[in-house]
Amino acid sequence: MGSQPLVVAIDGPSGSGKSSTARGLAQRLGLGYLDTGSMYRAVAVAYLESGLAADEVEAIGYLASQVRIEVGTDPARPTTAVDGVDVTATIREPRISQHVSVVATNLEVRRVLTDQMRRLISDHDEGIVVEGRDITTVVWPQAQVRVLLVADPAARIRRREAELAGAASTDEVTDQVVRRDHDDATVSQFETPADGVTLIDSTHLSLDEVIEAICALVPDPQE
Ligand code: DC
Repeated sequence: MGSQPLVVAIDGPSGSGKSSTARGLAQRLGLGYLDTGSMYRAVAVAYLESGLAADEVEAIGYLASQVRIEVGTDPARPTTAVDGVDVTATIREPRISQHVSVVATNLEVRRVLTDQMRRLISDHDEGIVVEGRDITTVVWPQAQVRVLLVADPAARIRRREAELAGAASTDEVTDQVVRRDHDDATVSQFETPADGVTLIDSTHLSLDEVIEAICALVPDPQE
């Protein structure tokens, strides 16, 4: 156990504080950081550019297998590129948030991206914090630390609104948080913790308190 690179897997719905937590934790522990949502968002960029319709399920799956997605795993500066084009800012645009569930609910896209995620994690000899919806259950259930981070919907909507700083209305943010989680929950189970996964409710916790709670779960390397 002690000789394996440390993998910390954090799942949860949008607005639960996953990204800030995972980045902060990676910086504190000197680990890499993988935002798997950015990979789904990258495929959504390619999908919207392709002009394919949402019901062209097979073609969208094939598209995901053909595009080259590169993710930078430095927690101080996460980056995403599609076929050599930097899309780090593009993937945060509201139009991507609106359409990303089309690719995230496509089972072939999930298979292709899950393979890529596993390769990225295996290649990280210094250890890595990975955030998403199905990391603790599907992508890397063998992670030494497995956390499901949740928060009340009202708190999640408030946080997303603050992050977007007026770029989207409350209705749009509610759609992004509640409707998207509902769609995503049809393919991943991220509302209740699987066996061996620690549930942390961040509704009334500060970022530092959540990071502390996860640090306390990291096994001693001597053991
Ligand atoms: O966390 P996020 O909002 O950046 O995620 C973008 C989309 O990808 C969202 O619809 C959920 C989906 N996703 C997923 O299905 N599985 C993951 N491991 C990560 C994200």
